[in-house]
Amino acid sequence: MQASIALRCVRPAAGRPCKAAAQRRSVQVAATHKVTVLAGDGIGPEITDACLKVLTEAARAEGEELAYTPALIGGAAIDATGDPYPAETEAACKASDAVLLACIGGYKWDSLPNAQRPEKGLLRLRASLNAFANLRPAVVLPQLADASTLKREVVEGVDIMIVRELVGGIYFGEPRGFEERNGERVGFNTDVYSESEVERISKVAFEAAMKRGKRLCSVEKSNVLEVSQLWKEVVTRVGKEYPEVELSHMYIDNAAMQLIRNPKYFDTIVTGNIFGDILSDEASMLTGSLGMLPSASISEPGKPGIYEPVHGSAPDIAGEDKANPLAMVLSAAMMCRYGLGLPKVADRLEAAVTAALDAGFRTGDIMQPGCTQVGCRKMGEVLLQQLGVAAGAKA
Ligand SMILES: NC(=O)c1ccc[n+]([C@@H]2O[C@H](COP(=O)([O-])OP(=O)(O)OC[C@H]3O[C@@H](n4cnc5c(N)ncnc54)[C@H](O)[C@@H]3O)[C@@H](O)[C@H]2O)c1
Repeated sequence: MQASIALRCVRPAAGRPCKAAAQRRSVQVAATHKVTVLAGDGIGPEITDACLKVLTEAARAEGEELAYTPALIGGAAIDATGDPYPAETEAACKASDAVLLACIGGYKWDSLPNAQRPEKGLLRLRASLNAFANLRPAVVLPQLADASTLKREVVEGVDIMIVRELVGGIYFGEPRGFEERNGERVGFNTDVYSESEVERISKVAFEAAMKRGKRLCSVEKSNVLEVSQLWKEVVTRVGKEYPEVELSHMYIDNAAMQLIRNPKYFDTIVTGNIFGDILSDEASMLTGSLGMLPSASISEPGKPGIYEPVHGSAPDIAGEDKANPLAMVLSAAMMCRYGLGLPKVADRLEAAVTAALDAGFRTGDIMQPGCTQVGCRKMGEVLLQQLGVAAGAKA
């Protein structure tokens, strides 16, 4: 799942040969990791600003160098170029080791035709990088167990990984559109999966389950939909290659209910695009806030993945310094772990988040009695401070 990272010289002095090149056989040299940064719309620029400061410091503490290339996507790209996913952005993303995305969308662009909307830019980004596997962890941190609307005893200890197929299914299926039938307009879409698409997402899910609790639940609607019957058949077939993983099957309606009733039943879930979209938002409420949920969208080995918070652009609070940057920081941690091969930087970022929460700092969306409410900027500063504490503690 990790992108290969080319070994390069870090800042060779002008006019002098790269010392590292001469010593390449014997000395481990830090690579510069190329990250395309898509701040997007709404709260995107605010959380990106906070996240990059923390990420840069965490990387520096591990002697790693990240090179950021900012690029436009979504509404910001529409305003600047008329296209939600401009060619320059696509080129930058494809040339990078990983893509770090904040969020897109907003009221301003809601009335545009479908093909020109910010959301189309996001779908095109995922498709262009063939980011077919979306990994969405939903972990209830002990500090936030009371932030959930569910009872503490129901959510405490929840640790679920939702593996969502991201580039197929009803969001991409053809035919789609509007037409006139029997004298009235109808809208229609197509939910379609090929065997190979189900096979590759199943393998990612089984591999994820192997690294976790070795329990995988495949979620579909095979009592009604042919596409789900094929899904179930293929997942079951792939499961034979993973005898250590306990595979179960569940209809989406039951899964939506069980996720609230007994979330600790689940370890790893694999599901299609639309069901995964809905279930992962539902899972976010177990954790207390959309503002806490990171995600990784992974392609084939060696290709850049996309790392982004699960939440949208929160236009209702954009520009008010109220946004929670933690989901984006945790997404950056996933990027370091899965995309850049920098698990120690990921550890530092996650430790800083934990330390900030332990110290009682909360943004409005996760605020609890007795805690200190802070805005996005302040939470970024707290993370930087905690990074020092966490780094010192680790050294
Ligand atoms: N991946 C993405 O970029 C993505 C995902 C979902 C929605 N969207 C777009 O975002 C826009 C708004 O959509 P929505 O309102 O349905 O979903 P949303 O996730 O933007 O907001 C839902 C609610 O959660 C709150 N919230 C979300 N993220 C938060 C954070 N980091 N800190 C604090 N509060 C946060 C918002 O204030 C809002 O009340 C739409 O244009 C939608 O298309 C984008």
